[in-house]
Amino acid sequence: MARKKIALVGAGMIGGTLAHLAAKKEMGDVVLFDIAEGLPQGKALDLSQCGPIEGFDAKITGTNDYADLAGSDVVIVTAGSPRKPGMSRDDLLGINLKVMKAVGEGIKNNCPDAFVICITNPLDAMVWALREFSGLPHNKVVGMAGVLDSARFATFLAWEFGVSVKDVNAFVLGGHGDTMVPVLSYSTISGIPVGDLAKIKGVDAARLDEIVARTRSGGGEIVGLLKTGSAYYAPATSAIAMAEAYLGDQKRILPCAAHVDGKYGVNGLYVGVPAVIGANGIEDVVEIELSDEEAKNLKVSVDAVEELLVACKNIDPSLA
Ligand code: APR
Repeated sequence: MARKKIALVGAGMIGGTLAHLAAKKEMGDVVLFDIAEGLPQGKALDLSQCGPIEGFDAKITGTNDYADLAGSDVVIVTAGSPRKPGMSRDDLLGINLKVMKAVGEGIKNNCPDAFVICITNPLDAMVWALREFSGLPHNKVVGMAGVLDSARFATFLAWEFGVSVKDVNAFVLGGHGDTMVPVLSYSTISGIPVGDLAKIKGVDAARLDEIVARTRSGGGEIVGLLKTGSAYYAPATSAIAMAEAYLGDQKRILPCAAHVDGKYGVNGLYVGVPAVIGANGIEDVVEIELSDEEAKNLKVSVDAVEELLVACKNIDPSLA
């Protein structure tokens, strides 16, 4: 059987980390694509030379030509520009929208059967635009946010309760931004609802609120520390988990930005929900019961995503 092929569009910090993880796990051969000449080729060469030391067998190549994406089983997209000082959110939206157009067309023309995972921010709008530009079925295009946001939530909960992160199953819904909805009622530690364990351990509601707030600004906290650039290790790890679920037909339920049409009162938007990932891509969206407050918070998050889509359509009328 031929090896799987994993294309990484964007060979920056996340792209390079994705390539390393995919090769180390021998998920398949890896193609790094970027518009910057030499960058994907240089990273591919450097990473290839990890093979003899780490003992992985994967061909890693770099390219500036979309034709090299042909036959890819999975495409993970990180291409784009970060927000620079003085740039408005709409400026960034305009720049990355153009990138999604080029990437979407590259995918459509070269690997229309791939499972596509978008990481580029602003995530919920970019994954929607990438789907529109690529014309792929909705179940084959998904955004990575919930796995990362939930991992941040789980990390902070594990630290607070002094337990292993392995035992924490935390859960975040909604858009990837200030309005995301960390859902305490579905978060558990070894099956014990977090609220119950908080009572046992004397962790009060105000402290749990602080953890929720830290989760919401988890990306910004890292940007503030790094000063140049944003998080890349955990975002790459999160997307790899999603790619593995697809390639291995694992039917994992992972929180991700999936196309929601009907459930959660959402019509035709990409938003963070629990979704089943298997060989058919997004195979189902699981609609869980939310408290009134969680539902209200999710609505705020969905409205924020909708606003971004209106801005996208104003910038590029072909999306309207
Ligand atoms: N086509 C392909 N690659 C592009 C394009 C394009 N049109 N435009 C920019 N790129 C490349 C850049 O050359 C750069 O190498 O995208 C890469 C982005 O890498 P980084 O700037 O290092 O960004 P990274 O930290 O990897 O994050 C990528 O993920 O989390 C989000 O907000 C983050 O949108 C950002 C994305």
